[in-house]
Amino acid sequence: MNPAHPSAVIPRPARGRRVARRHEARLLRAGNPALFALLTIGRLTGPIRRLPKVGWVVTDPVLSRRILNDARHFSMLGEGGVGDLWGQLFGPEMAAFFGGSRHAELRTLGRDLFTEDSARALVDRAQGPHHARLRARLAAGETVDLAELVRTTSAYTVADLLGIELADDAAARALFDSAERLAALALGTQTSTALPAETIERAKGLVTEITGGVAEAYRTGGPDTILGRCRGVGISEELARGLATLLAIAGTETGASSLTRTVALLHDTGQQHALLADRSLLPGAVREGLRVTTPAPVIGRHIAADAEVGGRTLRKDGRVMMLTYVADNAAGPFDVTREYVPETRQLWFGAGRHLCLGAAVARVQLTRLLETLLADGRPWQVVSRQPARRVLVPTYASLVVRSADH
Ligand code: HEM
Repeated sequence: MNPAHPSAVIPRPARGRRVARRHEARLLRAGNPALFALLTIGRLTGPIRRLPKVGWVVTDPVLSRRILNDARHFSMLGEGGVGDLWGQLFGPEMAAFFGGSRHAELRTLGRDLFTEDSARALVDRAQGPHHARLRARLAAGETVDLAELVRTTSAYTVADLLGIELADDAAARALFDSAERLAALALGTQTSTALPAETIERAKGLVTEITGGVAEAYRTGGPDTILGRCRGVGISEELARGLATLLAIAGTETGASSLTRTVALLHDTGQQHALLADRSLLPGAVREGLRVTTPAPVIGRHIAADAEVGGRTLRKDGRVMMLTYVADNAAGPFDVTREYVPETRQLWFGAGRHLCLGAAVARVQLTRLLETLLADGRPWQVVSRQPARRVLVPTYASLVVRSADH
């Protein structure tokens, strides 16, 4: 029995782990069957292996980090790298941005917007009122679709960073949905990052939807917004449009996925009860949620020059895929009491020069959501759930919860 909540049924640990694993596998399969197959094979390939049609796959966390830290041999540009996709959408200036000195310059320029303190202020400003409403609704015994909620809050957060005004929740949802549909066009790039002409056309239509507010924010934004800063340092409006799209994609789906999946993992494994009894476990729950869900399950790079990795020779012009989901999950099942894993570090955020800029935002928003769910000391129940289908980032399309005592 849970000392904090005698009425709540706590799943046995082994059963809870099985249930959690089953739900996670269902999400991955529904979102992207090819990715699910690749991750399943990846668990058997050993640390590094060449697969027909796919190229090199790496499942070892230390080797993955070595590659991500080696910009001389491995690049975002060229076949296999995500910069290749951006170049096809926004042209050579955006493609060059990923590999060039402008990238480092821009990261330095925006660093203060992404510190822990800035992330806390941002999340409290953009998401705080939604969390307060969530808390009130759960206390009143209502059911809440958390997938719907986090899609809305993720979009408000990115729009706030950019300096774009969103009229209402419907506009926030529309932004999220367009970004999700744009990212889904990259499905199938596991064998090639060259996009067919009709895919590029569809993508450009979605970019127009996503960047509707960019011109105004670029013209009027202050130095505390990304688009205002872009204007201030002479970045063209077109490149700013590309960067805004990048942020809309990078900052919404992955975060939303980590949020609902961590809430589900805590429920399915019964470990929400440990958290309810001991709030000092919260940072561990956040880290474990990010590790086990690894919302960017694969990171690709183009091989720019011959390289020796793990005793193998990776030849120039090939591609390499780091299966970060496999690498991170090798440490074991979701466990809020697990210590920091030095091998994986925070590989779910990548590594090296492209290490996730929004890592603090992702951690803070997960912390705040869990704090809200734990606020009145009652466990939550998952009433129903639906995986999202055909999406780049596996996630819940709906995750309906309510407070267990109602
Ligand atoms: C759990 C949530 C998140 C995860 C797992 C995640 C993961 C990642 C990963 C793996 C990369 C590196 C990709 C590569 O090397 O090819 C990345 C880059 C990036 N992320 Fe995140 N991300 C998350 C949330 C966010 C949020 C909330 C934001 C913004 C508010 C954000 C902004 C970015 C940006 C701008 C980059 C590109 C950095 C660069 O190229 O220099 N991310 N993210």
